[in-house]
Amino acid sequence: MKKRKTAGLGILLGMTALLFCGCKEKEIPEKLHVGITYYDQSDTYMNELIGSIKESLKETENDKLEVTVTIRDAAGLQKNQNDQVEELLDEGCNILCVNLVDRADPSEIIDFAREREVPIIFFNREPVAEDLHQWDKLYYVGADAKQSGKLQGELAVDLIKENSQIDKNKDGKIQYVVLEGEMGHQDAIIRTENAVNTLKENGIEVEKLSCKIANWKRAQAQNRMEQIIGEYQNKIELVLSNNDEMALGAVDAYKKLNYTSAALPVFLGIDGTEIGLQAVEDGELWGTVYNDKKGQADAIAKLATALITGEGMEDISFKNERYVYLPYYKVTAENLAEFRQGTFVTK
Ligand code: GAL
Ligand code: CA
Repeated sequence: MKKRKTAGLGILLGMTALLFCGCKEKEIPEKLHVGITYYDQSDTYMNELIGSIKESLKETENDKLEVTVTIRDAAGLQKNQNDQVEELLDEGCNILCVNLVDRADPSEIIDFAREREVPIIFFNREPVAEDLHQWDKLYYVGADAKQSGKLQGELAVDLIKENSQIDKNKDGKIQYVVLEGEMGHQDAIIRTENAVNTLKENGIEVEKLSCKIANWKRAQAQNRMEQIIGEYQNKIELVLSNNDEMALGAVDAYKKLNYTSAALPVFLGIDGTEIGLQAVEDGELWGTVYNDKKGQADAIAKLATALITGEGMEDISFKNERYVYLPYYKVTAENLAEFRQGTFVTK
């Protein structure tokens, strides 16, 4: 009797083992649960970038990898974002993508993630190097601010050299105005500096009339530009804007004041948002510099996948071990279609 019981148990165990092996052969997909929080949903370019990130993450899904994405808007407050990170971790996110509100204040977020061993991919708002070195599971994906300024400067140089009409008062100098993004953002001061230096290095004499901060926003830029026009009237020959939204705000200011098109300065933006590209097509912006959202999104998705599956890390080209920078591209009416269709050739 006793023997039979043991035999029965043996068969049962054997069957369980078979069942278990059977399951294993089928392979349970790994789970990538990405928690994204970004600084402010009122930012036009950020919304386009977040859309691309969502798309790229979904594209990485296959039978071996199940992908879930949760997105939070920090509405301009670092405190909100810190709370959101805690919630995302509680919900079981195993990768965090953080677009910091305050790029100088990531410590609390880093501590939360580190406690749970969840890697962070910071994006678009670059933390200072010291912070990125707080832990070896911290990464950054973005674009090189210096390059965007340089390319904007080159667009201006080419136009000024080809077209003597830009120097409206024929004094041999280009009177310019700058509309700057947020104070302390890597894409603000660095873009301005490099755009202006590129003009000077290419032998263009320039005179700065005004530089005002408009926090990436169209309405704020319109308001600042109205003040600047009030002060300088027809003297303005070139508007260098740190992004498309503010460049369009400047255009709005001139429209409101009923300027004729012959009296307008040249407007240059950065980003190549949908509305920015449309404005290049319509001739409202002379050009823009494409901030490759799909390229950055693909890089984020690739890195997130590699961190979870342990595969593909060697295909990612890092700078300083944990930074990935995507290139910018010059856009004018000539090559606009490539950016609309996403067929531009990546470097
Ligand atoms: C910049 C972009 C701006 C704004 C900012 C937000 O790269 O050019 O338009 O979106 O990021 O951090
Ligand atoms: Ca002039």
